[in-house]
Amino acid sequence: MRACLQHHSEKKGKITMLSNALVTGTTGFLGATIAERLATEMKVHGCGHTQSFNDTRVDLRDPEAVSALISATAPDVVIHSAAYRDPDFCESNPAEARRLNVGSAQSLCDALPPETYLIFISSDYVFEGQNPPHDEDAPRNPCSIYGRTKCEAEDIVSTRPRSLSLRIPVLIGGGGSPEQSGYVGQLIRCVLDKTPVTQDHHHVRYPTWIDDVADAVSFLIEKQPSGVMHYSGAEPSTRYEAALEVARLLNTSSAHISPSEASIPRGAVRPWNSALSTERIRNLGYTRFTPFGSVVQRIADSFAP
Ligand SMILES: NC(=O)c1ccc[n+]([C@@H]2O[C@H](COP(=O)([O-])OP(=O)(O)OC[C@H]3O[C@@H](n4cnc5c(N)ncnc54)[C@H](OP(=O)(O)O)[C@@H]3O)[C@@H](O)[C@H]2O)c1
Repeated sequence: MRACLQHHSEKKGKITMLSNALVTGTTGFLGATIAERLATEMKVHGCGHTQSFNDTRVDLRDPEAVSALISATAPDVVIHSAAYRDPDFCESNPAEARRLNVGSAQSLCDALPPETYLIFISSDYVFEGQNPPHDEDAPRNPCSIYGRTKCEAEDIVSTRPRSLSLRIPVLIGGGGSPEQSGYVGQLIRCVLDKTPVTQDHHHVRYPTWIDDVADAVSFLIEKQPSGVMHYSGAEPSTRYEAALEVARLLNTSSAHISPSEASIPRGAVRPWNSALSTERIRNLGYTRFTPFGSVVQRIADSFAP
């Protein structure tokens, strides 16, 4: 793959080959997957905060620590994945949410030389979700603190020419246990548990395989577009519909699961349908969009003893 990146760069003559990546949040769900994927193609540095990644822990809320990290690793590409990603936590702790989600983007932009390519991981929560689907230029109108911090960070990142904000929706993947598999892990547990339960049949989501996102990041590092890009799974479902589909795929009853039509109140307001149009990345030549059912099957298989 690395040879392929090099070939592409030489052929185009314009795109610099990138070989030394820094991925933030590599002790987290997405950062770990991106780091693992990129390590097959280039040198990868990573960092955690409360947990260590290859002995590296950095507090990205501290601008001096960010500057020292950039000096020590001298990356030619940075994937900034670390963030507070729980909307309810951000809603209850707005100052702290801004400190990490916005402050780290600012510190990175201050510390990076202009030639370094930066991919900032953003979210579909920049949209309120009343007028889906959203293309990259659709007006943003977040309905939560979390979404607002992502908008502010995007604005900071957009001041650098060699930068991309990559918006993604709810992630599925991982494996080994339901706890490590995000949304689908929770649904598999709910389907197999057989305890009567109500699932949200109001918010529309586009569950997206984490490995596809890592693959798309690798593709984007090769192409190096600037601005904003969307990547998303292609199949819409409410949480209730997704649970029924999981039950069908696992060949088990879903009679214990009932739909909740009204929005279930939680700490932060969620977008109704934050569908992300993926035309831009498709036009760039990206084609990998793994179907929901295949991902569920993989995750379910990984739980087997
Ligand atoms: N998960 C989703 O469904 C989803 C959907 C859309 C967008 N996103 C975005 O994708 C990105 C990754 O999300 P994720 O699911 O991988 O989150 P995650 O599993 O909660 O991981 C968060 C990462 O951030 C690190 N971190 C937290 N505080 C830090 C600090 N002060 N300094 C340095 N690092 C710190 C954590 O390190 P430690 O664990 O070592 O403390 C961890 O590695 C985020 O930007 C999120 O907003 C996620």
